[in-house]
Amino acid sequence: MKLKKIGNSELNICPIGQGTLFGRTSSKITDEIINKKIKVLEYGLQLGMNFIDTGEDYEKGVSEELLKKVLKNKRQKAIIGSKFKPSNNSFQGVISSIEGTLKRIGTDYIDLYQIQWPNPKIQIEETFEAFEKLVKEGKILYYGVGNFDLPKIKKAIKADNLKKFISIQTEYDPFNRQLENDLQFLEDNKLSVIAYMSLGKENFSKEEQKLLSSLSEKYNQSIRSIVLNWIISHKNVNILTSSLSLNHTKENFLASSFELNDLDIGEINKLFNRSIEKIDPKDIEVLDYDESDNAHLIYTNLEDALKNKHGIKPNAEEIAQEIMTTGTLLRPIELKLNDSKYSNKPYVLVRGRMRFWGWIVAYGYDKKIDAKIFK
Ligand SMILES: NC(=O)c1ccc[n+]([C@@H]2O[C@H](COP(=O)([O-])OP(=O)(O)OC[C@H]3O[C@@H](n4cnc5c(N)ncnc54)[C@H](OP(=O)(O)O)[C@@H]3O)[C@@H](O)[C@H]2O)c1
Repeated sequence: MKLKKIGNSELNICPIGQGTLFGRTSSKITDEIINKKIKVLEYGLQLGMNFIDTGEDYEKGVSEELLKKVLKNKRQKAIIGSKFKPSNNSFQGVISSIEGTLKRIGTDYIDLYQIQWPNPKIQIEETFEAFEKLVKEGKILYYGVGNFDLPKIKKAIKADNLKKFISIQTEYDPFNRQLENDLQFLEDNKLSVIAYMSLGKENFSKEEQKLLSSLSEKYNQSIRSIVLNWIISHKNVNILTSSLSLNHTKENFLASSFELNDLDIGEINKLFNRSIEKIDPKDIEVLDYDESDNAHLIYTNLEDALKNKHGIKPNAEEIAQEIMTTGTLLRPIELKLNDSKYSNKPYVLVRGRMRFWGWIVAYGYDKKIDAKIFK
């Protein structure tokens, strides 16, 4: 496994990092799950997955807390990324958030401190001013941003007086490739990508499945490892994966143990090329059940999305504000053809549940929304 440098920093990480969310298969926080997660993170570290990503509100702070145990006597072996929720993007918010994070993790510094999501009410200069203070105090080494589009990244580069801005955290997977338009710019500006949700929803077409299966056989790796490897084959791209299983963690790690050749990378590039279509939101059904993701929380109507009883962040109103500022979605939503006999809506929403409701809050049902369609 080859380590990769994040941006132009001194941080050399395994390109497959470990996330600390408990995953999409569980929404409960129990001692059993906490202990499982601790074991998995320790195992990942032993394998060499030295980059661990967390956040102040991940699993209500428990994700940071359990790192205290994982990192006991081996803080130096890990590179820790943490982040704060968008309501804390202000100068004071960042300054107080770091104290909670350091205390929960039981460390005196964070390697990479990140903005989780933009907050349209707070200017990037204000957040970066706080980052600069924290670097000077030795509480953080570097900083990054999450879920920023290119114009926001450009503003962040301008605001970076200390030249410690090194990373962008964002969704990237074979179905969601618009990031590739920006990769050269990011590389030129010495910024690395830390990707998440990197397997998409595995809604592969027959042709895609066939190609991945043949590559899986050729390289003697799982399909998941092939996809993860394709992602990290991009020079400045790394991935976060998250698991409660030792076997899955090993499989994810193995994705960094081989290299797809250029020809095979080219085959994936050619085949995974879904176009973005404009779809009438009235034609989209939002179901409370998702066969590929049985614990992902979904609101099926606007009223529930606005109430947001599950506390999903950013919420529909925050996303709507962002949409109205930029006029677009950060990423298209994903739809499947609706095969239900009982519905006259041709599509079912499979990914982008809060983005969809954010769009409805912003524009109602009258403006078409960007979507990728999976047959
Ligand atoms: N900045 C942001 O806005 C943001 C948003 C989301 C996530 N993140 C970060 O990214 C990390 C990763 O999150 P993610 O959702 O992208 O992770 P992911 O690895 O794509 O998905 C996690 C889910 O995939 C399953 N899984 C993991 N490895 C597997 C394998 N080898 N085979 C089959 N299933 C597997 C896990 O189940 P098992 O437990 O059964 O393995 C879990 O349910 C998070 O922990 C967090 O640190 C950041």
